[in-house]
Amino acid sequence: MESGYVHMPEPVIASVGASPLGHTDLPGRDLFSLALAEAFDELPAPADLVEAMYVGNQSESYEHQIMYGTLLAEWAGLRHVPAERVEGCAAAGALALRHAVKDVRNGEHEAVLACGVEKMTAAGTSGATDALSAAFDRAIEQRSGVTAPSQYALLAQRYLHETDATERDLAEIAVKNHANAANNPRAQFPEEIDVATVLESDPVAPPLKLFDCAPVGDGAAAVLVTTPDLAADLDRPQVRVAGSGASANSIAVAERDMTEIAGARVAAERAYEEAGIDAGAVDIVEVHDAFTVCEALLAEAAGFAPAGTGYQSYLPPAERATGWTDVQLSPSGGLKARGHPIGATGLLQALEAYEQLTGTAGDRTITDAETALLLNEGGVADAVTVSHVLTTAEAR
Ligand code: COA
Repeated sequence: MESGYVHMPEPVIASVGASPLGHTDLPGRDLFSLALAEAFDELPAPADLVEAMYVGNQSESYEHQIMYGTLLAEWAGLRHVPAERVEGCAAAGALALRHAVKDVRNGEHEAVLACGVEKMTAAGTSGATDALSAAFDRAIEQRSGVTAPSQYALLAQRYLHETDATERDLAEIAVKNHANAANNPRAQFPEEIDVATVLESDPVAPPLKLFDCAPVGDGAAAVLVTTPDLAADLDRPQVRVAGSGASANSIAVAERDMTEIAGARVAAERAYEEAGIDAGAVDIVEVHDAFTVCEALLAEAAGFAPAGTGYQSYLPPAERATGWTDVQLSPSGGLKARGHPIGATGLLQALEAYEQLTGTAGDRTITDAETALLLNEGGVADAVTVSHVLTTAEAR
């Protein structure tokens, strides 16, 4: 008797593209067109390939636009494909990727486009601050007037209190990410900085200063997820999506442990389990460093660093505390310096890993990297976390 087992294709990323990041004159749909044009540069037209589409997008308040699924499908020349907007604040991009991965994995589609877009500068910093606060619990947090930087400042205060980390260590994380971004032609801030620049920058929400914060910015990204066979037919370098995990935690920070980022730990562990690896196998991680302290917290949550030592992420592996892995953190420059156009961020992380694992990351290539982890979060810290493990095709 035949078993009921049906072989499911392991999804791969077959192409990526992004718009310029930062302050732009373009509306979201045009940013998307630029990302799409790059992703389909050497491919047939999207309408000849794409069977479904997901769009990560944080807020309609920037452009007074919902229906981003329909809008961008139309803009891509697609008709009558399933297309929808996915929201989860800053995790929207990775949620879109996760939906695409599932559609290919379960055999529903052979080619799905995951994309993300945000036009934050349309609202200015105050408008973006207001829009982002919609991700906080309305009953407890929004009414207090608390902002994203001040929520993360609470986490940072607590982290500095509980560990040996200092404000200087957090500043070093920003310095490292700006140095990485200096090798990234896509980066919003491709300038190297020194520790004094961070420590002497304007206070935003103590202990966080201007250079501890990811910026407000525009951007779009597009990631084409296909079956391995289709990617081979298209003659595209492919990167395996070996694992995907997601985890929602309490929406209010008041309900959570501020330094044990449990949602991120669970999401990472789920992705590791699917991929059949542990944290020690990860060569590169793109973390959600919306604020410098996030990189420290996520290094611990993802199993790269013993509790209380994640702040050493800026050090070369040989100089970190015992128990740290050799992982390299955010070669793109991270949210801090590559940029953080909210709905696009999770897909910009995937783009970086694709370029690293296909040897197309230029001067920032991490030699011999085979396995990457992506950690994308929405709301404050781990209100929702989405993680993916990507590996080179050779690692199959
Ligand atoms: N890092 C470094 N420089 C920054 C910066 C950042 N995060 N944000 C802005 N700048 C620079 C700008 O390039 C500009 O430089 P210039 O005068 O040389 O042109 C200058 O600082 C002022 O920029 P502006 O956009 O007016 O800054 P702002 O004071 O309005 O906003 C923050 C600064 C930090 C408050 C804003 O970027 C912010 O809110 N960041 C956090 C966003 C966020 O919460 N994201 C979601 C997290 S989940």
